[in-house]
Amino acid sequence: MNRKPPARRSPPPSSNKHTHPGRWEGKAKPDWIARALARAGVLPQEEAEAAIKAGRVSMNGKVVKQPLAPVLPGAAVRVDGLPVSLEAPTRVLAFHKPAELLTSTVGQHRVGTVYDVLLPQLPQELAGFTWHAVGRLDRGTTGLLLFTNDDKLVTHATSPETHLTKRYVATVFSEADEEKVEPLRHGVQLEDGPARPAKVRLRDAHTVEVTVTEGRNHQVKRMLGAVGLPVRALHREAVGGVELDVPEGSFRLLTDAEVAEGLRYTPGKA
Ligand code: URA
Repeated sequence: MNRKPPARRSPPPSSNKHTHPGRWEGKAKPDWIARALARAGVLPQEEAEAAIKAGRVSMNGKVVKQPLAPVLPGAAVRVDGLPVSLEAPTRVLAFHKPAELLTSTVGQHRVGTVYDVLLPQLPQELAGFTWHAVGRLDRGTTGLLLFTNDDKLVTHATSPETHLTKRYVATVFSEADEEKVEPLRHGVQLEDGPARPAKVRLRDAHTVEVTVTEGRNHQVKRMLGAVGLPVRALHREAVGGVELDVPEGSFRLLTDAEVAEGLRYTPGKA
């Protein structure tokens, strides 16, 4: 049977009043219809493309068959005859990544990724969005991984210029002491340039807390490796002011205040 995915008629209920600017505000680049539907959480992008090609989507009363058709300012869009809102609220999910899952990008159809665990849990009001991982964690790294439907938030949170902190706890093979970790507080040399000075705290001889404001590839492992403390296990506890507080493999939706204060992000301002 050809099952039609449900199209959401209006934005999901939330206290989030922000929307990031779309075509409506004049100066923003025109969005194309499949992307606008996905951005607003009406349908995931691939399903939106399929719905458009199947003639299920109309703009100002005319069926649109091209997923790349630009969205006209103020257009009345319908899916299966039902009016939909293309306002795109910024949503952020805090996911507790288990080990042995890849952080892939959304379009990569690979098995064994964070999407395999995250997407099946999403309630209908969140399932229509296209979720982007905010940065990445290595396959073996556990802990807080944020996802958002707002690609500008990804840019904001992952840019070194934002100086958003990421707090990790590393279990190291050799014994750590203050003398060994001290260079990390001043910025150790890595092959792709010096690391910024990090905040470092010894929790015990094999457990080191490291807080960084950059997110280069394998950065924390390379920093600890550079001071003779190879990493056995790595876990991310916090990003900015957002602390990991959900069980492994599960997620929760952040509030507007957590996005604004914890991630220092105001939708539409980036
Ligand atoms: N630094 C690393 O080395 N690995 C991660 O997964 C994240 C930060």
